[in-house]
Amino acid sequence: MACGVDFGTSNSTVGWVRPGQPTLLALEDGKTTLPSMLFFNAEEESVSYGRAALTEYMDGYEGRLMRSLKSILGTGLMSAQTEVAGQSLSFQTILSTFINELKARAETSAGIGFDAAVLGRPVHFVDDDPKADQLAQDTLAGIARDAGFRHIEFQFEPIAAAFDYEQTLDRETLTLIVDIGGGTSDFSLLRLSPERAKAAERHADILAWGGVHIGGTDFDRALSLSALMPLLGYKTLLKSGAEMPSSYYFNLATWHTINFVYTRRVMSDLQDLFRDAQEREKLDRLFKLIARRAGHWLATQAEAAKIALSDTSEHLLVLERIEEGLTHTLQRSVFENAIGGLIGRIETAVTDVLRNAGVTADQVDTVYFTGGASGVPLLRSQIGACLPNARHVEGDRFGSIGTGLAIDAARRFA
Ligand SMILES: Nc1ncnc2c1ncn2[C@@H]1O[C@H](COP(=O)(O)OP(=O)(O)OP(=O)(O)O)[C@@H](O)[C@H]1O
Ligand SMILES: [Mg+2]
Repeated sequence: MACGVDFGTSNSTVGWVRPGQPTLLALEDGKTTLPSMLFFNAEEESVSYGRAALTEYMDGYEGRLMRSLKSILGTGLMSAQTEVAGQSLSFQTILSTFINELKARAETSAGIGFDAAVLGRPVHFVDDDPKADQLAQDTLAGIARDAGFRHIEFQFEPIAAAFDYEQTLDRETLTLIVDIGGGTSDFSLLRLSPERAKAAERHADILAWGGVHIGGTDFDRALSLSALMPLLGYKTLLKSGAEMPSSYYFNLATWHTINFVYTRRVMSDLQDLFRDAQEREKLDRLFKLIARRAGHWLATQAEAAKIALSDTSEHLLVLERIEEGLTHTLQRSVFENAIGGLIGRIETAVTDVLRNAGVTADQVDTVYFTGGASGVPLLRSQIGACLPNARHVEGDRFGSIGTGLAIDAARRFA
């Protein structure tokens, strides 16, 4: 019994190919995505997952919200202990807790147990460090094995997406898959066709792949640093003329380091800095945010603004939790400026993939966009502009990887 598992930085899915039935399994309230989040509720001494985790955190329960755990794979943090609702746990244990839950929900939904899986992986878990990258994959494999998968294979996420898209084709195409997720941007260039789809061995059809460690959470971070953190004193001056140290703001703007700011040490350093600050009212907001443990709330506001700005040109932020009556209007142009450099790096990665394949940009006839962050219009238009003859196809932004992994699992474990 083999499934495909897309453990994402932001959302996870599990697919299982069955004739006449949808491939993706329902994981939370009938929905096929389980947001990759846990909330350790200190008041109820319970753990919740997905949307329910975010709701409990937003409702103000005491406890700890964990997100973006995939970003920690392959880093030294993985084995570090962290304080979670009164107990000390390793990130590895926390990640295991999530993967166990994901598997259990998929099995409940399917009505069977899975003992084999194709797990998705980004082209690079870690950029420019093959050893750390291998460690990331090995760690994930170990966690999956402990969760009860006896046979485990890995597939690049952008190749899985291609298998999903291929099901819809009636002729051959040369397609560039562009998967912009929460943590990484991944690409693959493949020859796809209904005929080729029947072959078990696809090596010859995969011309190149590539990726870069930039995704929607980096867009959140860039937006937060350019538009929100300045409201809390980022880039303001001390009486000495020096700038406020940036590390607190960097940590607060990054999903998986928000909790680093909630220590006594940071609080006492900030109190020292306050005496020396030129714009104390901004630091007052920062104190309030820390006292209320509202870092994830603020990051959620940045993410919501980013998503809204995919459809509108401005978005009103209501920032009551850091100052009564505080609002801030964000323009799409501010967001686009903030992520300009990141998009440039994504474009370079696309160009590299074409070069590695020995294919010129005008030969690509289709570009297939998937991943939540491919919703950013500037990103689609900039990548589209690199591929003059390609028609644009928008896939199931949150489902195509999990579906493709399930197709791959059905073939490999047949
Ligand atoms: N309409 C939208 N416009 C822009 N960004 C969006 C939109 N909808 C979702 N996102 C962003 O997409 C990201 C999540 O996408 P997705 O679920 O594809 O990632 P993932 O698969 O979990 O991550 P990865 O594949 O990198 O591990 C989040 O950063 C989210 O804020
Ligand atoms: Mg993904």
